[in-house]
Amino acid sequence: MTPVINLADIERKAAEQMSHNAHEYYIGGAADEISIAENARSFRSLSLLPRVMRDVSVRSLETTLLGQPFSMPIGIAPTAMQRLAHADGELATARAAAAMRVPMILSTTSTVAVEDVARVPDVALWFQVYVYKDREATREVAERAAASGCKALVLTVDTPYLGKREREIKVGFHLPPGMELPNYRALGTTTVPEGKQESGLARHFTENIDPALTWNDVEWLRSLTNLPIVVKGILRSDDARMAVEHGAAGIIVSNHGGRQVDTALATIRALPAIAEAVDNRLEIMLDGGVRRGTDVVKALALGAKAVFLGRPILWGLACNGERGARQVLEILRDEFDLSMALCGCRNVVEITRDLVVE
Ligand code: FNR
Ligand code: LAC
Repeated sequence: MTPVINLADIERKAAEQMSHNAHEYYIGGAADEISIAENARSFRSLSLLPRVMRDVSVRSLETTLLGQPFSMPIGIAPTAMQRLAHADGELATARAAAAMRVPMILSTTSTVAVEDVARVPDVALWFQVYVYKDREATREVAERAAASGCKALVLTVDTPYLGKREREIKVGFHLPPGMELPNYRALGTTTVPEGKQESGLARHFTENIDPALTWNDVEWLRSLTNLPIVVKGILRSDDARMAVEHGAAGIIVSNHGGRQVDTALATIRALPAIAEAVDNRLEIMLDGGVRRGTDVVKALALGAKAVFLGRPILWGLACNGERGARQVLEILRDEFDLSMALCGCRNVVEITRDLVVE
């Protein structure tokens, strides 16, 4: 067996473990999958300008997000239906997050109920909100998240409808028997219908998720709990400013891993203008195509406080449950630590703009 030393190795191994239904759902993006490729390519096309002779013998990766302390500026993005990857699903991810002291964002569309995931000892759980057409049911799930100990609400704003994911359509994506979406209980529908010549998930979204969201809904969400609100799915600086004006504590610069509007700008390319517009008035996070320690350095240099991983965690889960998800985080931590040292940085504050040449 060839050793597993980077995230691409784990992706290859995971592909052999998963059902076709799960695999096509996980790897897929919208239409021609241009944004998926661009997210990764754009990281690669940025060059680093390492600083030398800085005594990097002692380093710290620690940071805070929303006032909460974490071991490193790398977290787990919300990805739906993790029991498709491993029987323990979101519980395994939460255990890995707790062991690594990183935040985990739990999807509304999880296959384990928020209460059960929140019970994993020491997990720093943030809850990702999809707003249902039924606002009372949305209120109920947000209150369930707050009551069970989640430390932030992450409102995803790039998904009024599901993007056209052709792989999902071709496999007739569905949730296998025995799996449910328990956070949807208040809606009275916890399944994803079998798709015939369509994605069952796309149908589920069209039926249940509210495409009428506006910025006023950020305030509505703020009125439900005292938790900080993070707005996920920002690519434009004017939208970032709107998030500031509507009282968000943070944003996630994201194109949903290339799954919504294809050809949407790569997130690392969107970041600099957003960082300038926000001017430190809220915390900026980023996801999409982060696969190497140098990607983390570049995102921090260009203004993000942290990055989040989507698919790599799913691959880790598919390979080896909790241990697999941990391995992904450990590999990226070690690469990030080494990259930081080789760029002359002893801590995350020293990762400055001048390290990256566009
Ligand atoms: C996602 N993503 C996502 N986002 C969200 O807000 N709620 C969700 O339920 C999901 N579900 C989901 C499922 C799968 C299979 C994927 C791949 C992605 C998007 C996710 O949070 C994140 O934005 C991207 O995955 C980041 O890109 P990478 O790391 O996958 O390249
Ligand atoms: C996805 C949704 C569930 O990307 O966010 O599949």
